Amino acid sequence: MQKVIFENCKEVNSFLDLFGGIGNVAWSFNDIYSEIIINDILESNYLSYISFFDDSEINHKKLQNYIVEYNKIKVDKENYFSENFSNTYFSHENSKKIGYIREDIDLKYNNKEINDRERAILITSLIYAMDSIANTVGHYDAYRLNGDLEKELILGILDIPENSTNKNNRIFKEDANSLVERIYADIVYIDPPYNSRQYSDAYHLLENVANWNKPKVYGVAKKMDRRNIKSKYCTTSAPKQFEDLINKINAKYILVSYNNMGNRGASRSQAKISDSEIMEILSTKGKVEIYETDYSQFTTGKTKQGNHKERLFLCYVGKKNEEYENVETINGFVKCPLNYTGGKYKLLPQIIEKFPKKIGTFIDIFGGGFNVGANIEANTIIYNDKQKEVPRIIKLFLKYSHTQIIKKIEYNVNKYELSNKEISI
Ligand SMILES: C[S@@+](CC[C@H](N)C(=O)[O-])C[C@H]1O[C@@H](n2cnc3c(N)ncnc32)[C@H](O)[C@@H]1O
Repeated sequence: MQKVIFENCKEVNSFLDLFGGIGNVAWSFNDIYSEIIINDILESNYLSYISFFDDSEINHKKLQNYIVEYNKIKVDKENYFSENFSNTYFSHENSKKIGYIREDIDLKYNNKEINDRERAILITSLIYAMDSIANTVGHYDAYRLNGDLEKELILGILDIPENSTNKNNRIFKEDANSLVERIYADIVYIDPPYNSRQYSDAYHLLENVANWNKPKVYGVAKKMDRRNIKSKYCTTSAPKQFEDLINKINAKYILVSYNNMGNRGASRSQAKISDSEIMEILSTKGKVEIYETDYSQFTTGKTKQGNHKERLFLCYVGKKNEEYENVETINGFVKCPLNYTGGKYKLLPQIIEKFPKKIGTFIDIFGGGFNVGANIEANTIIYNDKQKEVPRIIKLFLKYSHTQIIKKIEYNVNKYELSNKEISI
């Protein structure tokens, strides 16, 4: 990611990470750009941003002493946490300790013994310690019935540099779509959830401790009401959200990271926004280039289908998108580049006239060159063909721009010394 940015984005001072998560992407630019703006809807993430990205003065020695004390403490009395979570994700002993420490942090804060940032650091340290021993399968949707509850809860000292470069940083806990309306940044980085798995479900327990409102918890997984932290990016409205977000962005560069699970895998893992939707929406803002996380640009043709790959879509805001300038259209219809027997391109005006104006799902069942399906407006368009190779080529057209495909063909023509009709004519 850094390589993509350093090689392509010029004169950058500010970097906005709209879906910050655990914050490691923004952190990797903290010493590089003078202003880091970071945001997430979850309180547990927000507190870790205050810990690492804020500029308020902190007393390192005082915090170290508190952590040493917390690690020695033995707790007898029951509390909110032990009453609700004993012998689930944590042992009874650890649960008593977690509840006690979390309560004590707010007590210290209310007594003005610690400031906002010191409070955030202590809570973050507690959350990291919990997360490292929790009896889970990596998230808090469930705990293991006969799992290991023996590990001791030990708080660590966060590795916060003494010489801060945080002077101009800004930290938010807001819905990305509303925050973006009032913030400018040279680079806006977008890494939203990809599928229907809500972060608020996966991390409900850490959110519970971060907020410490002691809500009622339900079910085997002991979740609280999470309606206010559900993300629309995990629902079918994700493409609409994404379009709204991109429309509102004020930046020089927009960098989108998105997983390519597409339509493969279990339905909960399926990506909510397709690559073609991302391309189409981003292209309204400017020229778009696609990179893989290992930084091989698609034009090199190194991409292997079938792998889980994260894509980086880099949009140069305001720069002309030459990719789409030479696409041949007649009567506004796009012609399939395959010279396909029985192709209906010339008949499209008569065919399309017969279809209803609003179409939910359109199935091109003898899809062939896809001249009809590709020119239809519908919520969902399904292509089918018995010939295995044709759908493969159609998928390729969907995934790569025509200039990328032509470059690849030209590369192979040269590599295998094939005759090039365009040159020999
Ligand atoms: C894929 S993760 C980001 C991972 C991050 N780049 C990292 O490296 O840790 C997506 C994040 O978006 C947050 N999120 C989901 N919907 C959001 C919204 N509407 N506004 C802001 N943040 C949101 C989730 O809480 C989650 O932390």
